[in-house]
Amino acid sequence: MSHSFNHKTAVMALITGLLIASTYAFSPAPAAVVHGEHENNLKVLPKDISHDELMQVMHSFEVALGLSCKDCHARSTSDTTKLDFMADTKLKKTALGMMKMVQEVDSAHFAVKGDFKENYLTSQFKVTCITCHNGHAKPINTVAIPIPDPKWEKKK
Ligand code: HEC
Ligand code: HEC
Repeated sequence: MSHSFNHKTAVMALITGLLIASTYAFSPAPAAVVHGEHENNLKVLPKDISHDELMQVMHSFEVALGLSCKDCHARSTSDTTKLDFMADTKLKKTALGMMKMVQEVDSAHFAVKGDFKENYLTSQFKVTCITCHNGHAKPINTVAIPIPDPKWEKKK
């Protein structure tokens, strides 16, 4: 009964296909980096952030600052081909402080309240990393405008 066999096979293939499709649709993407979905030491970003959202934030930091992962994240001591994302580095600590500053500035002066992740990923922040950094680790335009000398005012 090869006809019914083929029919069954087709139905099985369809079900398998649907199962695979739904697995991909409803489960988080496999992590390409050393990062457990429920085991992290995030301080500003929410601990239940998805892997994809975390990577969106991290890639955007790279663009805003002209840095790469390995500039902010330390090399793993157990496997030097990998990065230890949980470990603190000087730049990671500075970046964390900057995230808090961005949240404070926007909440206190620009009425953007609430969660850093939501605001950051939906471009709600009025002042954000790129505002000052513009692709550079150290903002290059902070001393572009000379401070006017009070004597200039008196001469008028
Ligand atoms: C400008 C510095 C900077 C760059 C560049 C950067 N990160 Fe991060 N990363 C941070 C900071 C700060 C945190 C912690 C955020 C927090 O605690 O809310 C973090 C957290 C993480 C975490 C979670 C760590 C934990 O506690 O579990 C992972 C994973 C991660 N980064 C991966 C990456 C990858 C991959 C890249 C490159 C695509 C990258 N980061 C680029 C600063 C950076
Ligand atoms: C209001 C302006 C401003 C904003 C907004 C801002 N930064 Fe900064 N950032 C600075 C200045 C100024 C420095 C210090 C530069 C120096 O030391 O010469 C700095 C330094 C840093 C450094 C250290 C760079 C180095 O090479 O030492 C990191 C990392 C950093 N910022 C990350 C961030 C991240 C991530 C964000 C967004 C969450 C952010 N900054 C938002 C102004 C800003």
